[in-house]
Amino acid sequence: MKRSLQSLDSAALEGRRALVRVDFNVPLKAGAIADDTRIRAALPTIKYLRERGARVILLSHLGRPRNGPDPSLTMRPVVKSLEKMLGAPVTFLEDPTSAEAVTASRRLSRGAVAVAENTRFYPGEEKNDAELAAQFAALGDLYVNDAFGSAHRAHASTEAVATLLKPAVAGLLMQDELRYLGQALDEPRRPFVAVLGGAKISGKIDLVEALLPKVDEILIGGAMACTFFKAMGLETGNSLVEPERVDLAKALMDKAGQKIVLPSGGVIGRELKDDTETRAVRREEIPAGWAVFDIDPYSEADFARRIEAARTVVWNGPMGVFETPPFDHGTLAVARAMAAATASGAITVVGGGDSAAAVAQAGLGERMTHVSTGGGASLEFLEGKPLPGVAALDDA
Ligand code: 3PG
Repeated sequence: MKRSLQSLDSAALEGRRALVRVDFNVPLKAGAIADDTRIRAALPTIKYLRERGARVILLSHLGRPRNGPDPSLTMRPVVKSLEKMLGAPVTFLEDPTSAEAVTASRRLSRGAVAVAENTRFYPGEEKNDAELAAQFAALGDLYVNDAFGSAHRAHASTEAVATLLKPAVAGLLMQDELRYLGQALDEPRRPFVAVLGGAKISGKIDLVEALLPKVDEILIGGAMACTFFKAMGLETGNSLVEPERVDLAKALMDKAGQKIVLPSGGVIGRELKDDTETRAVRREEIPAGWAVFDIDPYSEADFARRIEAARTVVWNGPMGVFETPPFDHGTLAVARAMAAATASGAITVVGGGDSAAAVAQAGLGERMTHVSTGGGASLEFLEGKPLPGVAALDDA
């Protein structure tokens, strides 16, 4: 257990500068924020600190700038968005490593908020550089990590800084993420069903291995199911298959026995286009020249029945190419089944990334027990890997 923000008394917050690592790595379209979910998710921590008279300095990366500062990845649009959400001005710290930034942080009034420029504009960030971390640390009197989505990165603003600036505590979003994902894994109400999808089995091997001993069933969709079909000796046409993983898929099936549940068929198309001719076929009938782009209606119904009978469901990865309708059908069916499971009392947890986007697209986010804001981070957490950004925080 890590020390929580709520464990700090008012003297530790009143008038103090809280350096908060958030994950404001939001998708941008033509310079504008395309989805502000991650900014909204950090609001409870920001509000908690403001209400207690702290001065709030927010640090985040945005995108993956390769060679230092990249104007298209500035945090300025985030400042604007946050000002609107808070209904208050937000100071922009253009160079968080400068003496001016330290002065500006000290000049903030109680309850005021500042956002620092993209941490990845500094080469030391991804190197977990102690010197850069010390410069970040100079902006605060305490450190709060609320960036669950970045907790799998050992970077200067997520790890090194937490060893320099004390107390170093978990923010409210971070606590929620760790609680919901942790409870699902460690104290699942049974049946416990995992739903896994996505294009490649290679990115999910550790996850399947880690989940197998814990779950009652793993439902597998997405193109990764086709590598399993291949391992069963089936024709997969032009479907995305990882030939070098076929043996591994076979080994996983042998090990898992009945626990791995594959789709009994797929929706196939000749091309990945929304107006392409489609057919639903059994998995034994995938013709040459066609590719599987979604699970078929029988599998949808089968997966939905299993999800609705579960008491704990964890979902990571879409069932098909959900960005290209009509191949969104299976993924949306899983989202609906999870919403129904939640309504009948199951704990439903959606790993971030594509599955979270699909749930948002279906307008069902509110009907899940928890939708993680972390893509890679939730994957690594579910794989049982330690998250450096969490490990570096003070113990409770
Ligand atoms: C994410 O979006 O998964 C996190 O913000 C981490 O981003 P990264 O994969 O670029 O490190």
